[in-house]
Parts: sequence; structure tokens; C-alpha cells
Amino acid sequence: EMSDQEREFQDRIDRDEKIEPKDWMPDDYRATLIRQMGQHAHSEVVGQLPEGNWITRAPTLERKAILLAKVQDEAGHGLYLYSAAETLGESRDELVRLLHEGRMKYSSIFNYPTLNWADIGAVGWLVDGAAIVNQVALQRTSYGPYSRAMIRICKEESFHARQGYHAIMQMAFGTPAQKAMAQDAVNRLWFPAIMMFGPNDSESTHSEQSMAWKIKVKSNDELRQQFVDQTVPQIEYLGLDLPDPGIKWNEERGHYDFSDPDWNEFFDVIKGNGPCNVDRLKDRVDAWEDGAWVRDGLLAHARKKSARTAA
Ligand code: 3HC
Repeated sequence: EMSDQEREFQDRIDRDEKIEPKDWMPDDYRATLIRQMGQHAHSEVVGQLPEGNWITRAPTLERKAILLAKVQDEAGHGLYLYSAAETLGESRDELVRLLHEGRMKYSSIFNYPTLNWADIGAVGWLVDGAAIVNQVALQRTSYGPYSRAMIRICKEESFHARQGYHAIMQMAFGTPAQKAMAQDAVNRLWFPAIMMFGPNDSESTHSEQSMAWKIKVKSNDELRQQFVDQTVPQIEYLGLDLPDPGIKWNEERGHYDFSDPDWNEFFDVIKGNGPCNVDRLKDRVDAWEDGAWVRDGLLAHARKKSARTAA
């Protein structure tokens, strides 16, 4: 049974009003947003690692500059999202501590390795492509700061996906060896990419409440289907084989049918047992500790400065 406050809040949500930091909100609304926004921010920051790995080994100066710009953007997206999460009363330091202690997640996809340059193209195309499908929908989320962060982030994401598609197109239309690498990258990254949308709606713990509060405006399966429908024609355009024999156009549904990913693998990866989980967390903890002296120096400087102006 809802209290008057909860009833009034739900009426605001039903009227598609944006909830702002100073507004009353149910504790669980606040908590699930801190969870999702914090994990979204962690995904942006950890997502830099697989690509960062190839900045020094990009095949041309132009590709190096493009990848550098993209990885830099991801860092900025992380900062937007940590700041948006802080409006809910959770500090960035606390979110980072929970990540480092393995008590918060980041997107499963970043626990897969980037083995060669074709992977960098496939990651930009498929991973950022999937992230765009998710984030375009999230622009309509009911929490104001999250919605506005999504609007800003989406403006930069299309460059991320296009540069990836362009890179893998060079290889798909290149030598037979390059085409084979492009095919291998798509075969390895296809199912991890569709896992990004989360478990099937029937298995989703948060979807029902998140959709009632319009935190989530489209379901996991809806967004996954949208991603498949837009990506299959691109794979065919590249002249590559489809990475899932179950993909078949379904006339009466007006969508592609496709095989489910291996959900045991998915739950294993988000439990921490993916190919790269240990490395990714170690890289993050090392970077955080190696950077402590910079943060301490900046804070000391800021304290001195504010003491001077106060005096
Ligand atoms: N990776 C890791 N964990 C995942 C996951 C994934 N792909 N999909 C689901 N989960 C987790 C959920 O976090 C939840 O666990 P928790 O209770 O510990 O948080 C559990 O699995 C059950 O899933 P639900 O569907 O019930 O969870 P949600 O309602 O939160 O839906 C979601 C999952 C669709 C990922 C949603 O959280 C969301 O839209 N998050 C924001 C988008 C996001 O995080 N994107 C990251 C993509 S990568 C990126 O942005 C960087 C790109 O720019 C390169």
C-alpha cells in the first residue's frame, strides 16, 4: 500500500515529470539509481582499459589519434556519471571503493580481451553500438541529472561507433587475412555484446520496479532486439558470416530471431569469473593507488588556497 508521498511521487512519474536532486523520492528509487548510475560510470572507466591497450599499437597515426580521442571521451563520460550519481548523496570515492572491493559491477563486456586490431574495430562498432541503443533510451529516464548526462554522452557516442565500424570495414574489404581477422572478432564479440543488455526480462531482478519508476524506459529484451535488428544488416554489408546460425528474419514478428547467449557464462562473468575480471580490477586499483599523491597534492593546494582567501 503506497503512502501519500509515494502516491504523489508515482503520479509525478506517470506525468513524465523529471525528478530533481532536491525532490522527495522513495529510498529505493535513490538506492537503485545510485547502483545503476555508479555501475554505468564504472563501465565507462573500466571500458577504457581494453581499448587503451591498443593506443600504442594502432596501425597508423590517424587510428592512434582517433582511439586516443575515444578513450579520452570515455573518461569524461565516467566523470559526468559520477557527478550525476553524487547528486543522490553517494560520493565518487565511496563508489570507487565499492568497485575496488568487488561490491559494485561494471559492464560484463569489458571482461573480454581485445586480442588484435580487428577487436578494436568490433568493440567500437558492437560495444558502443549496443551502449548507444541503451543510452538513447536512457535519455528519457525519470531522474533529471541522469537524463541530462545521457543527452550529453549520446552526442559523442555516434563518433565512437562509426570509427569502429570504419576500422573493421577496412579489414572486411581488405586482404583475405584481414577479412578473416574481422570475422574472428565478430564471432568472439557478438554474444558478449548482446549480453550487455542484461538478462532476459523474465530473469531481471530490477526491471519491473525500474520500469514502474521510468528509470528504465525500454526493457532489456526490447533494447537487445533493437540492437540485433540494426546490426545484422551491417554484418551482411561487410560480407561477413553471421556470428549466430540462429539469426533469421521473422516476417510476422518484423524482427530477426536470434539465439540466446550462454546465460551461465553471463552470470559467471558478472560474478567475477570472466577472462579479464582480475586484470581489470587490478589495473583500476593500481591506477587509483598510483594517483593518490596527485589527489593529495591537489587537495592540499585547494586547502591552502581557501585558507588564504578566508584569512
Ligand atoms: N554487466 C554487468 N552487470 C549486469 C549487466 C551487464 N551487462 N546486465 C545486468 N547486470 C546486473 C545488474 O546490474 C543487476 O545486478 P546488481 O543488482 O548487482 O546491479 C543484475 O545483473 C540483474 O540485472 P537487471 O536487468 O535486473 O539490472 P538493471 O535493471 O540494472 O538492468 C542494465 C541492467 C540494462 C545494464 C541497466 O543497469 C542499465 O541500463 N545500466 C546503464 C547502462 C550501462 O551500464 N551501460 C554500460 C555499457 S558500456 C558503456 O556505457 C561504455 C561505452 O560507452 C563503451
